[in-house]
Amino acid sequence: MSLPPNDDLAAAIRTIPDYPKPGILFRDITTLLGDARAFGRAIDALAEPFAAAGIDKVAGIEARGFIIGGAVAHRLAAGFVPIRKRGKLPHSTVRVAYSLEYGIDEMEMHVDAVRAGERVVLVDDLIATGGTAQGAVTLLRDMGAEIAAAAFVIDLPDLGGADKLRGLGVDVHTLVA
Ligand code: PRP
Ligand code: ADE
Repeated sequence: MSLPPNDDLAAAIRTIPDYPKPGILFRDITTLLGDARAFGRAIDALAEPFAAAGIDKVAGIEARGFIIGGAVAHRLAAGFVPIRKRGKLPHSTVRVAYSLEYGIDEMEMHVDAVRAGERVVLVDDLIATGGTAQGAVTLLRDMGAEIAAAAFVIDLPDLGGADKLRGLGVDVHTLVA
């Protein structure tokens, strides 16, 4: 399947200067989510490379990764694994500390969320420094998952996150830089 270029997706993303901290150009996807055509195109484009890839699960990172990842999981007829900020999951978890463009945090995943050998696509709205995605890759691999790829609507290439993930042996897909 061939898809049209992603200029319309870029146009649907709003930029807010100095949020949440001075100097950060915040890429706000709420405008894309509210545009049915752009949202649908983004989900189709993220899922399309994996349509015949035997994906067992999509893992999404709280909170924006839940919106995108849940829709991609449905599109791939895959299960969904929530990777959440510390203290939000009710069952036994594995945890990792990570840093992102504007802070530090800890994320968790349920110990039984993936089985060894399951093929997982990691999905989030955006990759900046890659700290968040790297944390998720660590959790998934520690539990024995095979990371088939990581997919993001937005890449901020100047911050080097996509290259960092590729350096970890992860196949990275992005729609808008
Ligand atoms: C944002 C974004 C990614 C992460 C990317 O999440 O949704 O998960 O930052 O940054 P990095 O590549 O520098 O690690 P945020 O922690 O702001 O959480 P939110 O989705 O709850 O707003
Ligand atoms: N997460 C990390 N950096 C970001 C940015 N510049 N815009 C939106 N989300 C982000």
